[in-house]
Formats: sequence, structure tokens, C-alpha cells
Amino acid sequence: MMSAKRNVAVVFVERAKNKNRKETIMGDKLLQIKDLYVNAGEKEILKGMNLSINKGEIHVIMGPNGSGKTTTANAILNNPAYTKKKGNILFEEKEITNLKTDEIARKGIFMSFQLPEEIPGVSVTNFLKYAKNKATGKPVKVFEFREELKTYMNELNMNSKNMERSLNVGFSGGEKKKNEILQMLVLNPKLAILDETDSGLDVDAIKTVSKGIEMFKNENNAVLIITHNTKILHSLKVDYVHVLVNGQIVKTGSQELAKEIEENGYKKYTTNRSQE
Ligand SMILES: Nc1ncnc2c1ncn2[C@@H]1O[C@H](COP(=O)(O)OP(=O)(O)OP(=O)(O)O)[C@@H](O)[C@H]1O
Ligand SMILES: [Mg+2]
Repeated sequence: MMSAKRNVAVVFVERAKNKNRKETIMGDKLLQIKDLYVNAGEKEILKGMNLSINKGEIHVIMGPNGSGKTTTANAILNNPAYTKKKGNILFEEKEITNLKTDEIARKGIFMSFQLPEEIPGVSVTNFLKYAKNKATGKPVKVFEFREELKTYMNELNMNSKNMERSLNVGFSGGEKKKNEILQMLVLNPKLAILDETDSGLDVDAIKTVSKGIEMFKNENNAVLIITHNTKILHSLKVDYVHVLVNGQIVKTGSQELAKEIEENGYKKYTTNRSQE
């Protein structure tokens, strides 16, 4: 039996190895969004969105408020509040455009929420146990599971006394966001979509979240981070930064692009797009 602590150590060692192997392992297609148009009611939100994420990559989407970032995440999970008008979404090169949300989740796509839900009467432990059982289709071994949770909570500087509290009820904003990272580690999806998981966090908590992402990340999975906060990118190495404006990706660059936006804002992309 491999202890949870050892599991985490293995993750770190694998990550270190993968850094050197990156060039050869990149290229496996994980998510492809092709010419996607999405409405919420009558309102057109995504207008020809294209995005391709390979295994082993961390992508960031930045963009002004209301540009369609959260809608993109919801469209990937096929949230029924949104209507796809055109285009498609492939996961591991298979169509998922019109699958039900739970089927998409079972394929290994996880989404954390900009505003995490409160669930009275369901403890953090029980929620995670239930979610893991649903995701893996296997019974969860209670003792090992608790040890795994404790190890992750320790790494994320979370108070283990909170494990028996109702999920997110009365948790501070920062604690809720850490709960989302904990869920990601426990569920171990192939693609983790983090919608503003770093907003409202203090400096130390931002570092903790990026540590959680690094613990999760390996050559077979990928992360899509939606953020306004370039601070998380100070402690996390990412592969691509995309700028989403008015329902389209208008610019893709490296980590440097986030720095440029931090300094100059989005004006260049919203008022002078013809020159881009
Ligand atoms: N269910 C809905 N019904 C009507 N309008 C919606 C719906 N969902 C989103 N919208 C609108 O679509 C636009 C894009 O919303 P979205 O949440 O994707 O923005 P965002 O880029 O995530 O912004 P923020 O940075 O503020 O989180 C907004 O103008 C929003 O009001
Ligand atoms: Mg949003």
C-alpha cells in the first residue's frame, strides 16, 4: 500500500523528471474548441472561439469583465444555461459538444467555480468521498482517503479541523478557494479548469494555490486558469496566455503577455484590434 505522503512525494519527483522531458511529450491533444459560438438566452457571448490544449500544458485565459471567460468554462462542461449555436468541442479527440455535464465530468474534466457553492449538512470529507467515488466508479477506502486528504491539506496550509464542517458554509473566501484546489487534487482530473481560483486570496494563499496546481500537474493532464490576477503567474510557470475579448481570443502569447497586460491593461486589445 502506498501512503498518501509517498504519493505526493512521487508526484513531485515525476514533475521534476517531466520538466526535462517536456519537449518530447507535448503534442497529445486534450481539449480542442473549434469556432465556437455560444449564447445565453438571446445574448451572443462567444463569437468564434478557438482554443487547443495539449497534455502537459498550463494555459491562462485573461480578459476584461464580461468578455466570456466563465462562459467558456461553462460551455466546455455544457452547462444547459448556455446554447451552442455553432462549432464544436473535442476532448481526447472525441466529440463532447453536446454530452451531458456529468458525462463530461466523468471523462475527466473538472471545473472550479468563481463563486463556490455552500452545501449545508454535507461535510468536506463526505463531499470529497462522494465526488471521488462518482469520478472513479470505485468504493473509496476510508482510512487511506483520510490520510490522502490530510497530506494535501497540510501542503495547502488548510486547517484539518475544517474537514468535518459543512462544505463551504461559513468558510472565508480564501478557504473556499482552497477547498476547490483540494477537490482538484482528490479528483485528479485530466483537465482542471480553475475560474478565478486566485481572486480574493492573500499573498501566501496565492502561493499555496500555485503549489496545489504544481502538485497536480503532470505530463498526462492540463490546467486552464481563468484569472485577472497576474500575481499567481509570479509563482507559477505557464505555457500559454490567451487574451479573450468580446467572445474571441484576440492574442496568444507566453508568460510575458501577462506581464504586458499587468502594465498596460486591455486597451490595446479592445480599442485597436485591427493592428493586432
Ligand atoms: N445566463 C446568462 N444570461 C444572460 N447573460 C449572461 C449569462 N451568462 C453570462 N451572461 C453575460 O455574458 C457576458 C459574459 O459573461 P462571463 O461570465 O462569461 O464573463 P467573464 O469574462 O467571466 O467576466 P468576469 O471577468 O467578470 O468574471 C456577460 O455580459 C454576462 O452578463
Ligand atoms: Mg467570470
